[in-house]
Amino acid sequence: MYSREEALKKLKKYGQEHVLDFYGDIDEDKRKALLAQIEETDFSVLEHTYCESDKKEGVIEPIKALQIKEIEEKKAYFLQKGSEAIKEGKLGAVLLAGGMGTRLGFDEPKGMFDIGITRHVYIFMRLIENLMSVTDECGKFIHLFVMTSEKNHDDTTAFFKEHDNFGYPSEYIHFFKQEMVPATDYEGKVYMESPYRIATSPNGNGGWFSSLNSAGLIDLMDEKDIEWLNVFAVDNVLQKIADPVFLGAVLDGGYVSGSKVVKKASPDEKVGVMCLKDSHPSIVEYYELTEELMDTKDSFGDPAYNFGVILNYLFSVRELKRIMNEKMPLHIVEKKIPHIDEKGEYIDPKEPNGHKYEKLVLDMVEMMTDCLPFEVERDKEFAPIKNRTGKDSVDTARALLEKNGYKL
Ligand code: UTP
Repeated sequence: MYSREEALKKLKKYGQEHVLDFYGDIDEDKRKALLAQIEETDFSVLEHTYCESDKKEGVIEPIKALQIKEIEEKKAYFLQKGSEAIKEGKLGAVLLAGGMGTRLGFDEPKGMFDIGITRHVYIFMRLIENLMSVTDECGKFIHLFVMTSEKNHDDTTAFFKEHDNFGYPSEYIHFFKQEMVPATDYEGKVYMESPYRIATSPNGNGGWFSSLNSAGLIDLMDEKDIEWLNVFAVDNVLQKIADPVFLGAVLDGGYVSGSKVVKKASPDEKVGVMCLKDSHPSIVEYYELTEELMDTKDSFGDPAYNFGVILNYLFSVRELKRIMNEKMPLHIVEKKIPHIDEKGEYIDPKEPNGHKYEKLVLDMVEMMTDCLPFEVERDKEFAPIKNRTGKDSVDTARALLEKNGYKL
């Protein structure tokens, strides 16, 4: 383990010596804990403080999506192809549930939120129900990998246990933790959560494959011959998970990845949009989409950049292994970060006060050899819960679930 001198040397390299300011005031166990955290923390992310994202620039052009009409025409064929692969055990699913869900303002993991009205309908329960509609149909369970973070792992696993995994067999559920990175003020100075602990936050939803690897779960996938992974967010309570039609379309086209997309609700909707960047499939974030691009029309007079991503992707495991050691862009996100001040007093800010550093799964699309944008009906597959009320909220998700005949 690091000595104080070794820790100081590492901190000096990144201009973070203040991390040891309280070292003289804490007991031996706390000193050890702090030195261990300094040793294991990757401070190199802090070299990015002054830019929004270090994503590559390129020439943006519209991309052609496989649209609903065409999908409907070939649905039976796609369904059969996808179901076959599922029955052969080739598909796994990855639930990204390591986020902090700060906008929802709920203290527990987001998946534990109860959206029921006359009965309990937990978000995790909804997702498992969706998955089970496919596994029942195919007569085959799908291995489900659930990403948590240090902040919500114990609560998440206990909740699944308490509810008997909502009927899903435990040998098919595998929890793994994502990595944490330090959080800083706007000048890139690491915040302290307590006198002996650096404030950290989950490293975004883009590091999931390397975290799966660190947890030894890629070996399990190889053992089980899992060739495809459907990666999805915890907060979309309407999405189809392990959708055989989606898988069938990706397989049929010979793609190595696919992304579910919906037509945007308005040109300025805050969703990432599928496009071509330097002739390669990519996703532009809403804040990167210029007014000019937003207003561009295709030959039918429709918005040319009209396909928003809903965080539901298919990736080939072989391709994921190929890109695993490639560097992913880092995004700098403004957030509220609780911390102690120089006097050691705890501060729980009401407004954003610094930066978190995140890798995003959407950047994986650009790293893939190709990607099929696959359109789904917005009102049938997109009900994200980001906020309590208003846009993308518990209220809007409830309304959409009811519209789809779901009893709450
Ligand atoms: P969001 O971008 O909505 O982030 O996550 P969030 O942290 O959950 O919510 P806010 O911004 O604090 O309100 C989209 C998906 O990515 C997962 C989330 O759990 C959600 O499924 N995610 C996000 C992770 O798994 N890890 C992360 O570090 C961030």
